[in-house]
Amino acid sequence: MDNNPKNQDGIEQESIVGQIPDDPLTGHAYDGIQEFDNPLPGWWKWMFIGSILFAFPYAAFYHGGAEGRTATERYDKALAENIRLQFAEIGELKMDRATVVKFLYEPTWLRVGQSVFKTNCVSCHGADGGGLVGPNLTDDAYKNVKDIGDILHVLENGAAGGAMPAWKTRLSPNELVLAASYVASLRGTEAADGKPAEGRVIPPWPEAPPEEASEAEEADEDANADAMEMDAEKAAT
Ligand code: HEC
Repeated sequence: MDNNPKNQDGIEQESIVGQIPDDPLTGHAYDGIQEFDNPLPGWWKWMFIGSILFAFPYAAFYHGGAEGRTATERYDKALAENIRLQFAEIGELKMDRATVVKFLYEPTWLRVGQSVFKTNCVSCHGADGGGLVGPNLTDDAYKNVKDIGDILHVLENGAAGGAMPAWKTRLSPNELVLAASYVASLRGTEAADGKPAEGRVIPPWPEAPPEEASEAEEADEDANADAMEMDAEKAAT
């Protein structure tokens, strides 16, 4: 066959035209290349069209602005639900210094504080508390905090005219207390790319929950006192 097409090296190639039974040709050729008229199978085309049609209701459903439909929103909802369940265990926490100190030493609950921090605070304080817009929370220097209880006040009321927002109305008391404990726990941790220290270096946090320790001591003292009284009574009789 003489009119077989040649490839780019000039080698004649055997034409496949006519080898497929009733191969329909489109009738046009380009650079000697003839085009078969082989449309895509119907099922393929319908899947293509179907996926385009599917896209409209899908986009409307997930991106139409209705609440609680995206994966992130459903995750947040599940998380909030989970936190509510957990809070059933500790009840409503007191919003005071002693409670912040107490939970600084309860790692399980610190994790709840961490999730509050991850959701609300990392945008300004960095994922590891190293500071972005807000100051570094891992060093020993603080701008608005002289004592561990002040963390809670800063969280409740904000600072620097709202540069640090007030969270009183946005977070529950438990979330505030646990987030405060978590912030306290960041002190002394290593932050990658932490901001330089700002403010004044303050004394270390209290070692153990002072309230409970003193209660325990008082109980001990009472017991001792009772024992001594009994001894004294015995001696008298
Ligand atoms: C919009 C940004 C922003 C967000 C969000 C934010 N902060 Fe702040 N935060 C700041 C700024 C700015 C300051 C420093 C205020 C100042 O200069 O006195 C600050 C200060 C603080 C301080 C006091 C630090 C110091 O050195 O005195 C604490 C504690 C704190 N933030 C905790 C949090 C927690 C916990 C959250 C999440 C519930 C949070 N922040 C969310 C911007 C933010």
